[in-house]
Amino acid sequence: MSLSLLLLLTLSLLSTNPLSLSSTANPPDRFIKSIPPHQSLRHSKPQEYIELTHPLPSDHLIPSFSLQILHHYFADTIGRPPISAPYSPPSACPPPWSSVVLHLQASSYGDQYDRIAAIWLAGAEILRTSTAEPTPDGVFWNVRKDVTRYVSLLQRSNLTLTVMLENVVNDVFTGVYDVRLTLLYYKSNPVRVLSSADHHHNKLSRKLGLLKDYRCVDSKLGFESEKFRDNTVIVHEEKQRNSLNLYETPADLIIPISNVVENEGFWFRIESESGVRSKGVKIPPNTYKAVLEIYVSFHGNDEFWYSNPPDSYIRMNNLTTGRGHGAYREVFATIDGSFVGSVIPFPIIFTGGINPLFWEPVVAIGAFNVPSYDFDLTPFLGLVLDCKTHLFGLGVADSIPFWLVDANLHLWLSHGSSAINAKSVHTHTPSLSIKRSSVFDQLDGSFEIRAKRTSRFLGWVKSNEGNLTTHVLHHLNFKNSIRFERNGTYKLVRQKVKTKTEVKVESEMGLLIGRVRIKRRYPLRVITSTLPGSRSNVYKMVTNVSHSLTEKLSCGCFSRSLRNSQDSRGWMVVKDHDVLSGSANTDQSFSYMDEFGCYSRVVSATDGKLVSDNMTFSCPSSF
Ligand SMILES: *[C@@H]1O[C@H](CO)[C@@H](O)[C@H](O)[C@H]1NC(C)=O
Ligand SMILES: *[C@@H]1O[C@H](CO)[C@@H](O)[C@H](O)[C@H]1NC(C)=O
Ligand SMILES: *[C@@H]1O[C@H](CO)[C@@H](O)[C@H](O)[C@H]1NC(C)=O
Ligand SMILES: *[C@@H]1O[C@H](CO)[C@@H](O)[C@H](O)[C@H]1NC(C)=O
Ligand SMILES: *[C@@H]1O[C@H](CO)[C@@H](O)[C@H](O)[C@H]1NC(C)=O
Ligand SMILES: *[C@@H]1O[C@H](CO)[C@@H](O)[C@H](O)[C@H]1NC(C)=O
Repeated sequence: MSLSLLLLLTLSLLSTNPLSLSSTANPPDRFIKSIPPHQSLRHSKPQEYIELTHPLPSDHLIPSFSLQILHHYFADTIGRPPISAPYSPPSACPPPWSSVVLHLQASSYGDQYDRIAAIWLAGAEILRTSTAEPTPDGVFWNVRKDVTRYVSLLQRSNLTLTVMLENVVNDVFTGVYDVRLTLLYYKSNPVRVLSSADHHHNKLSRKLGLLKDYRCVDSKLGFESEKFRDNTVIVHEEKQRNSLNLYETPADLIIPISNVVENEGFWFRIESESGVRSKGVKIPPNTYKAVLEIYVSFHGNDEFWYSNPPDSYIRMNNLTTGRGHGAYREVFATIDGSFVGSVIPFPIIFTGGINPLFWEPVVAIGAFNVPSYDFDLTPFLGLVLDCKTHLFGLGVADSIPFWLVDANLHLWLSHGSSAINAKSVHTHTPSLSIKRSSVFDQLDGSFEIRAKRTSRFLGWVKSNEGNLTTHVLHHLNFKNSIRFERNGTYKLVRQKVKTKTEVKVESEMGLLIGRVRIKRRYPLRVITSTLPGSRSNVYKMVTNVSHSLTEKLSCGCFSRSLRNSQDSRGWMVVKDHDVLSGSANTDQSFSYMDEFGCYSRVVSATDGKLVSDNMTFSCPSSF
């Protein structure tokens, strides 16, 4: 038996879980649209799939240079090393650049599952993404991501860019993914003149207390603005090395916290709670600020972790499913074994998830551009600026196979300070309060989990930038409930995640120099009702999914606000993992506001077609 056949068999064993009576109690699952579900609506041309997102600040500019770095057909790539390409900055357009955008263009036709993919530059992840499930007529999509924060890598020569996208191609799964990657380099600064039409936006922002004054108190923040008579505001972006603007000025150095076994891709594959993976890192002694950026996605029996019942329910009912271990997961980071930060990830639903008919042609929030999570580790610098190797670890609490996790350590260096004095004043591990309750009688029952954690970290760093004290405060609030009714055939999952992060930087005199506040909320509700079908082994599933992501960021003199929600409902007839027929509708509303203006888009998709699409650059009356 060849290796790839063996791998394929293992894969089908893992993913094929016929809906026997005992497993109807544990949908949702992962499906494939193996038969064109909407024959009446057959598109003869390939169809574009989209993830709603806001325009990038550089979108109205013409790139100074466009560099295609890779074009590859990802066919039967499972178990094979990733695809790589050499990278050097374009000699025709050398740095500095004002911004850099990564553009991924992908297409596929045939039958195929959704697949996870990642792109790394010199082992540092720059994009986590997943694919759309193709149709016989073909699908294509585009992902554009601002990658300016990785500029310290992008300006280096002789690096390797790596793409991992494990796909299976055989008689059944025919979809090959055609992927092109291009980097767009911009030289001009994104300067946007806000017209008086945006007056409303300014008023709104002030009402929200988000933009207090357009003139920044401290020009070190990197943004300066001028205000004119008629409310026209010009925002200049200034790239300043000394900026304390946490999320806007790229780091001087990025150290990947990723797998060194390159043949498996640079991500760490985490299969259990105890599977903490780590990498030894020496931090340059002139580091004055550090931010850890974590990338994460969940697969296999944890793809729908938020809907997994406790093991006791599975055991008592003699169920064969591996989707258990309860519904609490927390991705955490450690330094030398001590906790430094954690996140309950946004529950991304890939395009084959729950009901694949929901995600055509509008994919679920984050499916094409999986969010990463930032942790300010500056308070911990006092523990690691000793020129010794320290272990940076990543793990997932309560995890079952499998999670793909890695991180980038962004470091800001003080030029001219050779050695820095630093002390971590308050870094003890915050306790997690978690309560679980579980009541069930055979297949019916309800399960609840509530968890809370407040982390506080404090440390000072004395460099040429001054003696700066960084306070990090992070609140996490999690609630999950799962209810089974009708002998386990009806399942209701409700989850709420709320987080609040504040990072404050103070001078030695106690003056506030910078402050970032981020609030996020991501509720999720999934209903799955499984009914017997006309034939044995065929089921009808009625499914409803509502989820959203709200985010508010305020940082000194600017702020950003995002509200993105999707509501999907429909039904499908399934046999094993194949969707035989069905009907589905998804409504999505996206609004975004930042220092440059507002953007909103409201779409509705029914049975694979976009039936309404309304986009506006004016600000909504309520945000
Ligand atoms: C509930 O489901 C189990 C297994 O799926 C089955 O054996 C049992 O007869 C069902 N009970 C009722 C009341 O339908
Ligand atoms: C990159 O590699 C080329 C060819 O091996 C070499 O000539 C060049 O000096 C290298 N550049 C850097 C910056 O290392
Ligand atoms: C599970 O299996 C055990 C042993 O075969 C049996 O005694 C028990 O009744 C089963 N429970 C259910 C709910 O089917
Ligand atoms: C830096 O500031 C902190 C807090 O104000 C102070 O405790 C510490 O002694 C200062 N460090 C140095 C080296 O001056
Ligand atoms: C799904 O949502 C629709 C509309 O909100 C509702 O009418 C329907 O009963 C829901 N389906 C289930 C299975 O709860
Ligand atoms: C689009 O939005 C505008 C303004 O909110 C509204 O007047 C219009 O009816 C909408 N169009 C559609 C097709 O929904």
